[in-house]
Amino acid sequence: MKNKNEILYFITGNNNKFNEVLSFFEKENLNYFLKQKKIKTIEIQADSIKNVALFKLNSIREKINGSFFIEDAGFFVDIPLNGFPGVYSSYVLRTIGNERILKLINDFVQSRAHFSAVIALYFKPKDKILYFEGNVEGRVSSKIRGKGGFGFDPIFIPDSIPDKTFAELSIEEKNRVSHRGIALKKLVDFLQQNMKT
Ligand code: IMP
Repeated sequence: MKNKNEILYFITGNNNKFNEVLSFFEKENLNYFLKQKKIKTIEIQADSIKNVALFKLNSIREKINGSFFIEDAGFFVDIPLNGFPGVYSSYVLRTIGNERILKLINDFVQSRAHFSAVIALYFKPKDKILYFEGNVEGRVSSKIRGKGGFGFDPIFIPDSIPDKTFAELSIEEKNRVSHRGIALKKLVDFLQQNMKT
């Protein structure tokens, strides 16, 4: 059994993300104590979220003594925008925002969208980098709806809860179905398996 209160750092400046991850960790039986660390990471413009995540992780690897992870996510409107904004998600949200994204869509019933998340973990006991991925499928809401969440949450309706946007869900409800929740489940399974050894 490993040390009871080993610290696992989540490197993020996004408090909403941290709260989602914390809420997930609190329900799990883990020996790790989750701690937020805000360190400036280098975010490159890459062709995939996984490459962005890997670059981010490597840009801070020397600065942290212990196991840590970062997470990178993207919002993809598959129909009718062929995956836009995808890897440009934060730029598009900052520049045109949700309201003007909705203006690019005519048929909301036929629209398709998904979120993807990649968690990149540096696991010190094995000196290894591991990836955990999650996706959630849904469609675009014709209107901005809900006060919770962040980012694109008010315009995304998951297939599994077809009457609500992510912004209308509690953190726990969102974690049960979200891209981040799915990736987190894989991370937590890995940590649990590697605690027993
Ligand atoms: P990043 O992972 O912080 O680079 O996220 C890229 C963009 O997607 C940012 O503008 C985030 O606000 C947005 N985003 C990331 N995760 C989510 C989510 O779970 N819901 C809604 N928007 C998100």
